[in-house]
Amino acid sequence: MPNPGFIRGTHHLTFCVGGAQEDYDFHVRLLGLKSVKKTVLFDGEIPIYHLYYGSRLGDASTLLTAFPYRQAGWMGKRGTNQLKILNLSVPAGSVGFWSDRLDEFDVEHEHTELFGTERLSFAHPCGIHYTIVGDPEPDSREPYGGAGVPAEHAIRGSYGTTTSVREPEPQSFFITEGLGGTLIGSEGAHHQFQIGDEHGHGRMLELVEEPSLPQGTWQFGEGTIHHHALDAVTAENQGVVKDWIVGLGFTDVSDVKDRGYFFSVYMRSPGGALIELAYSTPEGFLIDESEDELGTHMCIPPHWEDRRSEISQLEPIETVETVVG
Ligand SMILES: [Fe+2]
Repeated sequence: MPNPGFIRGTHHLTFCVGGAQEDYDFHVRLLGLKSVKKTVLFDGEIPIYHLYYGSRLGDASTLLTAFPYRQAGWMGKRGTNQLKILNLSVPAGSVGFWSDRLDEFDVEHEHTELFGTERLSFAHPCGIHYTIVGDPEPDSREPYGGAGVPAEHAIRGSYGTTTSVREPEPQSFFITEGLGGTLIGSEGAHHQFQIGDEHGHGRMLELVEEPSLPQGTWQFGEGTIHHHALDAVTAENQGVVKDWIVGLGFTDVSDVKDRGYFFSVYMRSPGGALIELAYSTPEGFLIDESEDELGTHMCIPPHWEDRRSEISQLEPIETVETVVG
């Protein structure tokens, strides 16, 4: 019996970076994404920014979200048994544009080909691996095209992620039996699975076998990817998917957490990747900013309001958009 619930595709991808300014510049000024929300991490005792980048309205599957940890001094270590690469979709014909743009910004990159797609591999200033994937399939997501990137070449959002594993079988079981995914193919040490349905995006979960690499860290720390959130669409379906996975024996699943703009449960997968099942609230990002003002305020959740003075100690960010309050 397959999972009686469903996954749509990716909801968002979340990672720990170094400085807030270099992260903002990388996503907004280089990759041409929109800064759709500036808020703080809801967990923990110290204020940490939570910066969201994506399409004009920050639609699910376009979202990249960053915790800048350098000011707090928390370092992570990349390795195996950990999420390794953030893969972003562009139209197949736009890879050349991105190669030229990375050159223009002096970002070292490598051309690769994997699973029938042309790719550009490069790194965030904090060291996290990114890949731009030329997706030959049509993509219905609205291109944003900020920072002078023509809309036709704009990053459409997530293609998926790559997880570094010691051996592929346990994670393969989790993806196919737990998430209802399908193995698309294998090329040497690389394996590609597709999850989600025809309405979703960011549906490719890839594994790379790296058995001799030391273990990567899982705590919040600069330079590491923290989790891959999948879109469960509704509260009811989130519960169904979660219960099915628990029934397979993956019982280390969190409670449902209110993230302000969406509700989340987290589970550690056997390949080391932290997987989140999320569903957006009806208001989503418009709960504290209007459509035209997305990304132009420091949005502090109600339970952090008494700590506004501490939050104001976070490093200032020079932004493209005017930020008030
Ligand atoms: Fe998340």
